[in-house]
Formats: sequence, structure tokens, C-alpha cells
Amino acid sequence: MKKYTWKKASALLLAMALLLSACTSGQPAQGEETTPSTQETVSTPVTDAAEGEVDKSVYMNPEANVEDRIAALLAQMTLEEKAAQMVQAEQSGLDAEAVTKYGIGSVLSGGGSAPLTGNSAENWQERINELKQAALDSRLGIPLLYGVDAVHGNNNVFGATVFPHNIGLGAADNKELITKIGEITASEVRAVGIQWTFAPTLGNPQNERWGRTYECFSERAEDVAGLGAAYIRGFQGTFDSNGYMDNKHVIACAKHFIGEGYTEEGINQGNVAMSPEEFDALLASGVLEPYTYALNENVLTFMVSFNSVDGLKCHENYHLIQELLKNEMGFKGLVISDYNGVQQVSGATYKDQVELAVNAGIDLLMEPYSWEICIQFLVELVEEGRISEERIDDAVSRILWVKFTAGLFEEEIGGAGEQECLAEFGSEEHREVARQAVRESLVLLKNNSIGETTAINALQDCKNIMVVGQKAFDIGSQCGGWTISWEGRSGKTTLGTTIIEGLAKQVGEDVKLSHNVDGNVSSENDAVIVVVGENPYVETGGDRKAENLTVSIKDQELLEALRVSLDALPDRENTPVIAIIIAGRPINITEYMDMFDAVVMAWLPGTEGEGVADVLLGDYDFTGTLKYTWMKSPLDIEKKQEEGNEDLVLFPYGHGLKKDGSGILGNAE
Ligand code: BGC
Repeated sequence: MKKYTWKKASALLLAMALLLSACTSGQPAQGEETTPSTQETVSTPVTDAAEGEVDKSVYMNPEANVEDRIAALLAQMTLEEKAAQMVQAEQSGLDAEAVTKYGIGSVLSGGGSAPLTGNSAENWQERINELKQAALDSRLGIPLLYGVDAVHGNNNVFGATVFPHNIGLGAADNKELITKIGEITASEVRAVGIQWTFAPTLGNPQNERWGRTYECFSERAEDVAGLGAAYIRGFQGTFDSNGYMDNKHVIACAKHFIGEGYTEEGINQGNVAMSPEEFDALLASGVLEPYTYALNENVLTFMVSFNSVDGLKCHENYHLIQELLKNEMGFKGLVISDYNGVQQVSGATYKDQVELAVNAGIDLLMEPYSWEICIQFLVELVEEGRISEERIDDAVSRILWVKFTAGLFEEEIGGAGEQECLAEFGSEEHREVARQAVRESLVLLKNNSIGETTAINALQDCKNIMVVGQKAFDIGSQCGGWTISWEGRSGKTTLGTTIIEGLAKQVGEDVKLSHNVDGNVSSENDAVIVVVGENPYVETGGDRKAENLTVSIKDQELLEALRVSLDALPDRENTPVIAIIIAGRPINITEYMDMFDAVVMAWLPGTEGEGVADVLLGDYDFTGTLKYTWMKSPLDIEKKQEEGNEDLVLFPYGHGLKKDGSGILGNAE
């Protein structure tokens, strides 16, 4: 819930700043002379809904074509009602009455923002449907568009099926499987009444020091393009012959547009140090491809990226949003800003920032706790001629187009489709698919010979296996960020199977499986499995200096203790030591490599940890390959694309071994 409190705090700060500016005689908000004081702005009432009969005959008629429905509705909307469609509020930041009063267009649950009544699918459904009903009770009854970050399953909701994060799905590289994951996620999102996921992320990170690397499939845009499109296909399903989405799928969101994987030093929300011309050339060289593929898949929404290009925030970049995405690429759906992203643009006051963002082409403003003042500013900006009515009508038409296309005007709140989805929420069937994804995402990085066989194959005959490390029984670390809470958390945060539970289920009855967290092994152990990696993080909280991009401090200590213990083993060379790495990116393990006979990169596998045992102990072989170049030292990450630096690379892009030690792509090391 930190995001939510932290972001709430930033909104409070903004409100305080505005208030302060109102109280200090003539001192404008955020320091600009021309800014109207809050006192003035707050006292400008948002006019009550227009009086008079509403004609719903066309816009509520599913037989009418969408363009006619939009026109019929738009013609009856007041400016205030249009402005209210253009904001997205956080569910914890408004009540049902406000939704009805203003005719609020959209609400989100940010990371970790569960209903006050508690985190169960039923409570989510109740809260969301309360807000959705409130929108229907407004004068025009325009349905509410509700969004959530279902980025690896409906991951905020306790008990949801949580899939591997995208970096693991990239390694699995199975488009049909990703489409299936998209469908299941859609169903678990619909189960709680939500119709929109802010996914998939389509960046191709060049520097894994970036805390969002795990949200991205691959360092190569060409991989991201195909996998992203397959995910969108799963989320949105196939539209019917009239162009409408069904009620078991969800609206997808191509995010974040654009350049986030190219910031200097991999800094989250940072700057891409290229001139606009150089950046355009980069986009043309392939980096745009994931987004054009998304368009071809009819993705209904795009989210703007926090980063800047040449010092200019994407949120105010007219060239990228209006000219490139909308005019050149022909995107017809809605463009949403990122969380408080409007507040990062260059305007001197919040009102200026709203003006800049909307005029750059943003249609829906994710302003979780500032939505009310934002509505008011939108109205004033039109009245002052700073935003044209055409721009507002364009934005609202796009929002309505998405709502019509997604079937929201025909949606029955809490209807049969939703109840069917709820009955399947977190089901065994869904978890089976997640487990398959875990199996396919594993990348065997190293598999040395032990006697006549390989370390992994040797494990099959071992009878006394010691599992070392706290991450072996840590569902929270397995899931990583964006799970139950925004940052994620170690420990028993949700339902699922840990890695050790999976191993325990699959070892033979004659095998002794023990576990410790201090790194002790004894001569009785004939195999060691050590599970180490990163602790959960999200966004900027995951940015790392090169020297810190390694396993957690606790796991460093564990590995040092394990080294001492292994060195004392009498039969060390015949004892396979297998490392399982739980991490959201390639991390520095170079200094530990000599301790391990085999290394399995498990990424952030999600709730179905038994997929690891399926491959380690079962009949499945490894099929995953690296979609990121893995450097020996994170200090050299920036050199990875340069030629002649092969010596700096620990494992190249495409690397991945099978149990017998051969390379999946024929490139065994
Ligand atoms: C992230 C987005 C996310 C949004 C809503 C932001 O902090 O950058 O990816 O969709 O929050 O939770």
C-alpha cells in the first residue's frame, strides 16, 4: 500500500502547496505570477448537471453504430460532464456520491489499493460494482471505465493466479501460452467487475539497472512486438462482427509510450539523452514495432511514459503523442497519462500542466487524488481558450469510443458473465497454465558434468537433498513487485505453492529433503539446492547502482556461509550444487559461479512454484532461453551492445541449456 500512501502524500502535498499559495497574499500556486489562487479556483463551482430530458434512444441502442452513439451522447454533454469523463480517480480517493454527482468517467485501483472491507475477490467486486452503479446513476448514465494493473494475473487481489512476470514469459517465448495467460488474466479481472488492465508493458530495456526490467519481455524490440501482441490478443479477445468486445475479456493498454528502456543509466522516469531527431531514428530502427503490433491487434488504449526525451517529458510531447501516435500511426483509442504524470510536466502551475498534457494529446488524466481540481481546471482552460473545445470533444469521443467498443454500455453489473468468472477465480485450471508458464520460463544457465553425467541429471539419483535459502519457501519473493501490494513483499502474501513445497511433492518417497536458511550442508547430503535472489521491489525502488545489482544482502551472507560449508564436504566434486535464482533481471552472480554446478534462472515465477520441480525432478526438459545479454559485471552493462566485448559477457542473448548439457539453440558453452 506504500504506493498508494506515498502517492496520496504527494497529492496532499500538492493540495497543501495550492492552499499555501492561496493563503500567502498574491503568492501563486507553484510559484507563477499568473496562477489563479486556489481560493479563486476552488470557489468556482462546477455547475450542476444540465437540466432537461436526456435522450438515450440512440446512445443506449446497441444496434446503432458506434459513431452515431458517440455523436448522440456528446451532443447532450455539458462541458463539466465532458471534463469529468477525462479524469481517472483512485478508488480510495472518492466515494460513490462523487461519481454520481460529477459523472466521473474512470476509476483505478493503484498498486495495493484493496477495498477497505478487505482483500478478497468478493470485496473487490462489491466495491467496484458500487462505483459502477454510481456512474449509471449519474444524469447521463455513462458507464464507469475501471482500470487496474493486472500485469501478471489479477495480482492485487488475494488468491488470484499469479503468472511469471514478463521477463520470464519472454524467456519462455511461447505466444500461444501468452495469449492463454491473457485470457485467464482477463477472466480473473472480470471476476471482480474490472474491464481494463494497464498491460502489457512494451519497453525493451537496454540497462537492467532499471527497476522495471522485469516488466519487459526482452531487450530486443522484435521479441517484444510478437509477445506483446499475443498478450493483447488474450486480454481483449476477438471482437464480434459489430466490432464489440465480449464481457469475459478486458481492454488492454500498450504502455508506456515511449522510450522508457533507453533512459540514461537505466534510471526510472529518467531522460533519454538523444535529440528528437535521433530518437525518431531510434524508433524507426525497430523500437516502435511493439507499439505498431499492438495497434494491429486493435489495442484500445495507450499509456504515456514517465520518461523524457531530450529533457522533454513524454507527457507534454505533442510530437510523440498527437503527431506520431495519433496522426501518423492512426491510433483511434484513448491515451491515458501515467499516475500523477501530468504533475511532472514543465508547466509552472498545476493548471498549466493540465493544459500542456491535454494539448499534447492526452485524453484521460490519471490524477488519482487531484481529479476534482483537475475537472475544474479543464473547464476553466476551455473557458479561457487555452484548450479548444475540439480537443475536449476529441478526447471525450475517444474515451466514449473505448467504452462503446468494450461493450460497457451493455454491461450488466454483477451479471452472469462476471459470476462465471468469479467461480473460476484462482482455479486449479488457471494455476495449471501458470505452472506451465513457470516450467517454460526457466533458463538453465550452467550445467557442469559430474562424473559421467550432468549436475541436473545427477540430482535425479540423489537421496538426501539439502535445500538452502529463505527464498525456497517464500511466495512473496517468488511473485516480486506488483503482487498484493505495489512493491510486493517477502513471505506468505498470497495463495500458491512455494519452490520447496513443489520439490517436496515430487521427490521420491525414499528421498530425504531438508531445508535451512544458514547455508549449512553436511556430508550426509548428496545434493544441494540453493535458492537465492532479489527481494521484491517496484519501479524506482528497484533501480540499482551497478555495484548493488546482485542477490540480496542476506543471500550474499548465505552464499558466503554455504561456500565455507561446501569446501568442507569430503565428496564435494560428486555432490551436485544447483542454484535457483529468483530475480527480476540478470544480476551479478559471477563471483559465486564457481560454487554452482548448475544454475537455473527462475525469474519471478509467481504463485505456481511447483513448475520448478516439474523440470528439476520431472520429465520436462528446459526450454527457456535468455532474452537479455547477461554481463559478467553490471559495470559493463552499457557496453553490451558494442561489438568486440564478448569477453565481458557471462551469458549471451539466446543462451539456455538442456538437462544433458547441450544448448537449446545449439550454443552450449
Ligand atoms: C505505473 C504504471 C501503472 C500506474 C497505475 C504507475 O506508477 O508507472 O505502469 O499502470 O502506476 O498503477
